[in-house]
Amino acid sequence: MSLAVRILLPSDVPAATELSTLAGWNQTEGDWRMLLDISPEGCFAIEHEGRLAATTVVTCYGQELAWLGMVLAHPDYRRRGFARRLLEHALEFADGRNVRSLKLDATDQGQPLYQSLGFRVEQEVQRWSGTGRDPARVRQLECSAVPEIFVVDREAFGADRSRLLGALAGRKPPAVLRQNYLFWRPGVRAGYIGPCVSDDVESARTLIAQCAGGDEARWFWDLLPANEHAAGLAADFGFRVERRLMRMTRGAELRGNDATIYAIAGFELG
Ligand SMILES: CC(C)(COP(=O)(O)OP(=O)(O)OC[C@H]1O[C@@H](n2cnc3c(N)ncnc32)[C@H](O)[C@@H]1OP(=O)(O)O)[C@@H](O)C(=O)NCCC(=O)NCCS
Repeated sequence: MSLAVRILLPSDVPAATELSTLAGWNQTEGDWRMLLDISPEGCFAIEHEGRLAATTVVTCYGQELAWLGMVLAHPDYRRRGFARRLLEHALEFADGRNVRSLKLDATDQGQPLYQSLGFRVEQEVQRWSGTGRDPARVRQLECSAVPEIFVVDREAFGADRSRLLGALAGRKPPAVLRQNYLFWRPGVRAGYIGPCVSDDVESARTLIAQCAGGDEARWFWDLLPANEHAAGLAADFGFRVERRLMRMTRGAELRGNDATIYAIAGFELG
């Protein structure tokens, strides 16, 4: 069986979205297109009998960090070594670019594979889900894409995500409250809250009330439980933990300031 890896193309987006939706994931065609926009050379696929069988995406945040995501194999083509082959290719790609640290958020299914490739556990990441609130209680904030948030984000995340933030802002401008900010976007199963960076819990509360009061019936909010204020806020908004993933690292240790991260950008993005 051929394990030839090829670049994922814009024409693959419908099939790739089918793959992620089959796995019960939330990414839309717009999310896949954004990944292709910000990392056209880092999106990889294996095709089998003319069908998209497996995918993996590497998003480079400068040379400090690359994020691995969208590790998917079609249910008809699992346990044939497709994911391992794609991951080996992705690691070669990142190593070839001298990326110092590689990270990902692993599902239970993916974790043994990553461990065998040298990834070690960093910390838990949780998906919380909840419903919207009464929009009348939400006060309007200035929504704008300001370059200053690139600086704030770098401090919080530990690497330069400006390309990603620019792409997200192009889809929907963030809510900004002083130097604190929040993005949100639609999803297949629920609206997605994040990334959100804030230096205090009350600003994060005001920002998140923006979208928790919006027109989506249901929201996903992925956070680091190490930030107890973020988990407390999610509980205050009536959200509940739905899934637990494991953030894993290969290569150099790299940490930002988790206490300021109120929502991650996505399991596939960091
Ligand atoms: C996880 C997933 C990508 C694996 O894809 P795959 O192509 O079947 O994986 P491979 O055939 O390359 O197997 C790789 C290794 O993982 C192991 N593995 C694969 N699926 C597994 C499972 N469900 N449970 C435990 N181990 C598993 C295999 O034993 C193999 O180990 P080996 O190479 O030492 O034999 C696939 O099951 C999938 O798409 N799952 C749903 C989405 C998901 O959870 N993705 C991971 C995101 S972090």
